[in-house]
Amino acid sequence: MSDSFDLVIGGGMVFTPGGPIATDVGVREGRIAAFGNLTSARAAERLEARGLTVLPGVIDEQVHFREPGPTHKEDLESGTRGAVLGGVTTVFEMPNTDPPTTTATLLAEKVTRASGRAWTDFAFYVGASPENADELGVLERLPGCCGIKMFMGSSTGSLLVADDENVARVLRSGTRRVTVHSEDDMRLSERSALVRDGGSPAMHPEWRDVETALRSTKRLIALARAARRRVHVLHVTTAEELEFLAQHKDIATVEVLPQHLTLVAPDCYERLGTFAQMNPPIRDARHRDALWRAISDGVVDCIGSDHAPHTREEKARPYPRSPSGLTGVQTTVPIMLDHVAAGRLSLARFVDLTSTGPARIFGMANKGRMAVGYDADFTLVDLAAKRTITHAWIASRAGWTAFDGMAVTGWPMATIIRGRVVMRDGELAGTPQGQAVRFLETL
Ligand code: DOR
Repeated sequence: MSDSFDLVIGGGMVFTPGGPIATDVGVREGRIAAFGNLTSARAAERLEARGLTVLPGVIDEQVHFREPGPTHKEDLESGTRGAVLGGVTTVFEMPNTDPPTTTATLLAEKVTRASGRAWTDFAFYVGASPENADELGVLERLPGCCGIKMFMGSSTGSLLVADDENVARVLRSGTRRVTVHSEDDMRLSERSALVRDGGSPAMHPEWRDVETALRSTKRLIALARAARRRVHVLHVTTAEELEFLAQHKDIATVEVLPQHLTLVAPDCYERLGTFAQMNPPIRDARHRDALWRAISDGVVDCIGSDHAPHTREEKARPYPRSPSGLTGVQTTVPIMLDHVAAGRLSLARFVDLTSTGPARIFGMANKGRMAVGYDADFTLVDLAAKRTITHAWIASRAGWTAFDGMAVTGWPMATIIRGRVVMRDGELAGTPQGQAVRFLETL
């Protein structure tokens, strides 16, 4: 074996599958090539990581980057720039753009747009609709696609598969895990009179209530069983769904968000108003505590950000004309590391939720594991760094965060993607060279 590397990360605490080990990491041709004492190895580049923890690259499997369409909110360059500043190495981007990503041509167009502009590695969801339901088995296997996204409840954009017959058609078409926004659209329509112009955003979790989420998730699991199809339930927010989903782990994986683990009603609506409005909504402490319990119990498989940027002007419209969604791709790592510092989850569970978990759920090739032969994607963090999250730090075109002013312990110090350092000490490095993620052939 040659002892010459393109990059050596020296002196850090490296989070291997067996836990943290003090070791150097050698990278060759974008892959992890060796662990061990590499002080005397030849290296084209060395990165001093003393005092830092080297984690497998953080994968965010839920972001909305708005391109093509409302790029005044975000585009693929600004969205992925925020990601690497926040320590994220790979993103899966959602299909509710304009036009929505529902065809092979529109998917290929997104991949082309990302080339040379995306700072992170990436994949795109194809949006399910009654029109393309029977073609999804072909679409989900196209290069650059991470799978199908189905909105069972209306949210931002026009994508919707509301009724059982069409949900079943989507679930019968294809074999990869189907990713789902689970809110019952019929109940949302019935209850829409609850929210009226100029009303309080604190009504958001009343309108989009527990039953709205639970009813949809129960329908989804019954239909998934009938179709023998695996599903990934996004941004689960209720104690009731988690209790139910714990009985269906053979078929369903679960994502939760930092927003729902950190913010709580009614406080968030009193402090932030419509800037806390998102779908599904931030709920009260009973549900937040249930999310944490589901993390301890192992029921939760991954954490995504649901980065959903809207401008301040748009968010400042009177509720409910204010759009739903919070920025998040840049704040996941510091927020969740702060929870680690506070003892709410272990660093091992952080790695499981942000890297190993998404790689397993989606069958990603060569990512999500600190192992020789895997992509050299790393998130280097200082677990003891004390910083404050501010609007000014946020790269998103939206330019704001619901966590402005929050003091945290733990911060991303460097982002490395396939052996290239793209962020160091808060500064970008190099140029955007993100590539489409590959997936295991058999899935
Ligand atoms: O709050 C949300 N915003 N929830 C979604 O499902 C969509 C997202 C967006 O795209 O704005």
